[in-house]
Amino acid sequence: MSKHDRQFFNTFSIVIGILVFITLTLIGIARSIGVPFEADKALVDSAVAATVAERTAPLGHVAVSGQDNAALAIKPAGGAEATVAVLPKDGEETYKTVCSACHSAGVGGAPTVGDRGAWGARIAQGKPALYDHAIKGYHGKAQMAMPAKGGRVDLPDDLVRQTVDYIVKQNQ
Ligand code: HEC
Repeated sequence: MSKHDRQFFNTFSIVIGILVFITLTLIGIARSIGVPFEADKALVDSAVAATVAERTAPLGHVAVSGQDNAALAIKPAGGAEATVAVLPKDGEETYKTVCSACHSAGVGGAPTVGDRGAWGARIAQGKPALYDHAIKGYHGKAQMAMPAKGGRVDLPDDLVRQTVDYIVKQNQ
């Protein structure tokens, strides 16, 4: 190797060394500025937190008796507004969609609407008793019990009262 070559090689090595040093220094500075800032930002940024929560959400849930399991309710497809079950608009509609399942055919001894004989003694108890039995459920002499709110426990009490009013009107 000639003297000229060796000199070139030494200079070249020094230049590469300086460049490597500068590169590492810049990486170090960039990390010391950026990393703590990024970590903070990731923790407070709600968009980031939401995607993390989504990715780390448990795959399954276990319903525990005696605890609030409302979050496990099966939601019908079709967006937020579809998650609220559609309520019948009045007593008549409630009767037709809920109560008629038993009360039009007399299932399990349910008093048939239109059968005044079957309703006479019941109506004679007075409306407050009928309201109470329809809302809380009732088992008298019939083979089957009247389920609370006809099984639709999501019905507001007031709508059940309107439905009883409707039924009573059909039997007077
Ligand atoms: C699963 C069947 C079923 C459904 C659904 C049902 N009922 Fe009944 N209902 C009965 C039976 C059975 C009786 C009679 C119970 C007895 O006398 O032992 C009854 C009785 C009643 C009585 C009379 C209670 C009394 O004091 O004599 C009322 C009022 C009544 N139901 C209202 C309703 C209303 C309002 C709905 C709808 C929201 C409804 N029922 C839905 C089965 C049903």
